[in-house]
Amino acid sequence: MSKLVPPHGSATVQPLLVPEAERAQLIEHAKSLTQIPLTTREASDVFMFGMGAYTPLTGFMGKESWHGVCADMKLDNGVFWPIPVTLSANSDTADAIAIGDEVALCDGESGEVLAIMSVAEKYEIDKEFECEKVYRTTDQAHPGVQKVLAQEAVNLGGAVRVISEGEYPAKYPELYLRPLESRALFEEKGWSRVAAFQTRNPMHRSHEHLVKIAVEVTDGVFIHQVLGALKPGDIPAEVRTEAIQAMIDNYFVKDTVVQAGYPIEMRYAGPREALFHALIRQNFGCSHLIVGRDHAGVGDYYGPFDAHNIFDELWDGALQTEPLKIDITFFCRKCYGMATGKTCPHDREHHISVSGTEQRQMLENDADIPLEFGRPEVVTILKKYYAGLKS
Ligand code: ADX
Repeated sequence: MSKLVPPHGSATVQPLLVPEAERAQLIEHAKSLTQIPLTTREASDVFMFGMGAYTPLTGFMGKESWHGVCADMKLDNGVFWPIPVTLSANSDTADAIAIGDEVALCDGESGEVLAIMSVAEKYEIDKEFECEKVYRTTDQAHPGVQKVLAQEAVNLGGAVRVISEGEYPAKYPELYLRPLESRALFEEKGWSRVAAFQTRNPMHRSHEHLVKIAVEVTDGVFIHQVLGALKPGDIPAEVRTEAIQAMIDNYFVKDTVVQAGYPIEMRYAGPREALFHALIRQNFGCSHLIVGRDHAGVGDYYGPFDAHNIFDELWDGALQTEPLKIDITFFCRKCYGMATGKTCPHDREHHISVSGTEQRQMLENDADIPLEFGRPEVVTILKKYYAGLKS
């Protein structure tokens, strides 16, 4: 009997990737079907279905679930779910599809068939309602809102059978752990209280401090990074992976953390996305999710601790994975060490804080990054990347 947290809303993890032996035949079959080109977000959702990270969903949401998720964070069967997972098509394509038809879901760029979907529903949505409820804004400058508003006119809902995991397994052979694999790894290590650290950045010392706080109170930490599409200016996954590994090799006790990545595309939905991240990590076998300052936020759309507070609004049993809420972390010159808003009594003037933009400028200009902010092994890797961008 596993001591790990059970998957969300299901006794078992439910990967929707079909067995390898059946794929060739399905790819052949897909050639005769209507092809639906996917956006990068939709393709990323297909990969998430494939690996079982979206257990217990069986495919793209129908209207009742879409509405329930936006309004009350509930699927049509009452199960907790905080962010819509939907697929859209233009009106002409949708008109040509009958309910019950199968369609081929294809990568928008390469055209590769990623999945087959049985269309159970076609429906239109109020996009502004979704943005208001999920993103708390309808501002077109918000990168997640932009993607919702850019969706085609008709949503298609229905069960999917995933045929391909794209380039992920080949590109990230060691990082690409599926939920059943992370669970097996945690069991092998004898871990049952596992904290996930969600990140889309290389780790600086504030991140290191967050993870070390979690190492103290759990069996181990799953440093779990986004491998899906990010917004312009974010550091690519290959560079991040190398930088995170440098941090782990030089500053963590062996076997206290595991680095992995997953194919999600960020929505930047702040508090709602923090809940989503926790739900997904439950499927990966993590009992806790580190939630720091402005988790999954962008710009100043969310308050620094909105993502903490939203966990208190959930009903009993909604989610089993719990937040490890941690205040803002920094180096304090007076404490002469890393601290948090909760543990340091000194004024902000004593804190070393470098914003993301400032850090980027310093790296681009090969300026010295304070040792109190970034570890030299990590900084060297990042500087090499930025120098490459210029040449
Ligand atoms: S994201 O998913 O939240 O966008 P990011 O890499 O920016 O990823 O942050 C990873 C985690 O570290 C999040 O939980 C975030 O709240 C937390 N975090 C980042 N910087 C700080 C900081 N200085 N203090 C506290 N928490 C932080």
